[in-house]
Amino acid sequence: MTTQTSAHTVMQRCDILGGFSEEPDCLTRPFASRAMRQANEAVAGWMRAAGMTVQQDKLGNLIGRYEAHSIGTKTLLLGSHLDTVRNAGKYDGPLGVMVALACIERLHACQQRLPFAIEVLGFADEEGLRYQRAYLGSKAVTGTFDREMLGLIDAKGITMAEAIRAFGGDPDSLPSARWQPDELLGYCEVHIEQGPVLEALDLAVGVVSAIAGQNRISVCFTGEAGHTGTVPMALRRDALCAAAEFVLSVEALARSVPGLVATVGQMAVQPGVSNVIAAQVTLSLDVRHRDDTQREQACRQLEGRAHAIGLTRSVALNWQRLQGRRVVACAPQLSGLLAQAIQETAHPLHTLPSGAGHDAAILADLTEVAMLFVRCRGGISHHPAEAVSTEDVEVAITVLERFLHLLCEREGHP
Ligand code: GLV
Ligand code: MN
Ligand code: MN
Repeated sequence: MTTQTSAHTVMQRCDILGGFSEEPDCLTRPFASRAMRQANEAVAGWMRAAGMTVQQDKLGNLIGRYEAHSIGTKTLLLGSHLDTVRNAGKYDGPLGVMVALACIERLHACQQRLPFAIEVLGFADEEGLRYQRAYLGSKAVTGTFDREMLGLIDAKGITMAEAIRAFGGDPDSLPSARWQPDELLGYCEVHIEQGPVLEALDLAVGVVSAIAGQNRISVCFTGEAGHTGTVPMALRRDALCAAAEFVLSVEALARSVPGLVATVGQMAVQPGVSNVIAAQVTLSLDVRHRDDTQREQACRQLEGRAHAIGLTRSVALNWQRLQGRRVVACAPQLSGLLAQAIQETAHPLHTLPSGAGHDAAILADLTEVAMLFVRCRGGISHHPAEAVSTEDVEVAITVLERFLHLLCEREGHP
């Protein structure tokens, strides 16, 4: 397989995976869905053809293993996620799995085994689309999966436990961590940047320094339904007006604090009728910052603001923190090897933080993590217009290959 063929193959495979969707007109591939099953089957086939043994774990993560040249050696983890957001692009997640697979294919093509095993992980859920909880896949791998989540229901009333079972998994025997930290060399994830920095610098790839922390919160305002024609404005307890005021407060705070990003991306209005005053509004709040203290402080401020709005409008507030992740620093040694790989393959080195969350942030609970970002067009992501170039994908494959070589040298096998 020539070098050029691999990057083209990665692009073709991202196209194929992009066709596995729960919605006919756009790409939406939630956790444990039919589309996810199709994706896992396709990737499993490519993994087997690349000399890997393949299994789907009890949660639905796809795991391909490429053995070392001798047994009893450590394992390096590579990969990313195979689920998507609603109306997604083709590369957020799958690109990292496909680039890792391309490296294995190159090793397999020349019958090369390394002094360590490699597992390529296709995580079953990173986005949290179906159950509003992110990182289900990587949490199962690290043994940090909170079993209480199994009782959550999706939009159709299906519990997470039922969804896992229907997908061929087993919620009753989700593993405690499969790995001991000393059995691993680390985890390296290739991912599109999802921002404009590399493009502005005219760089194909960059090394990630740290992954921003994030909180996800469910905010519910409960007022009182009423007739839109008869209830005077001064006597209303309009939940949607409270929510609207809160949304603008979120924006105002985020604009005033450097580095803070805060977003309301989802809102459900009850009863949702044009001639009925809104009785209840549930909205999502996503708050991120590179500094954990600032992120937590912003959340406290916003909770205070929501209470104040509720009080003024006689609307009740329910504030439920769904998840919080600290900032995760990428490991200096492993990231140093990625940096060296970039320089040795004649590309300028640039290091940048990630504002997006990644499976690597969870894997950091278990092992050293490093990430390689790939330039994406216009910095656009979580959008069908997401795009990468074949040339940049080629650079990513070459850098990851070089990284594997450097890791071999570090482990004492040139
Ligand atoms: C995942 O894409 C996230 O950052 O929310
Ligand atoms: Mn994403
Ligand atoms: Mn992603």
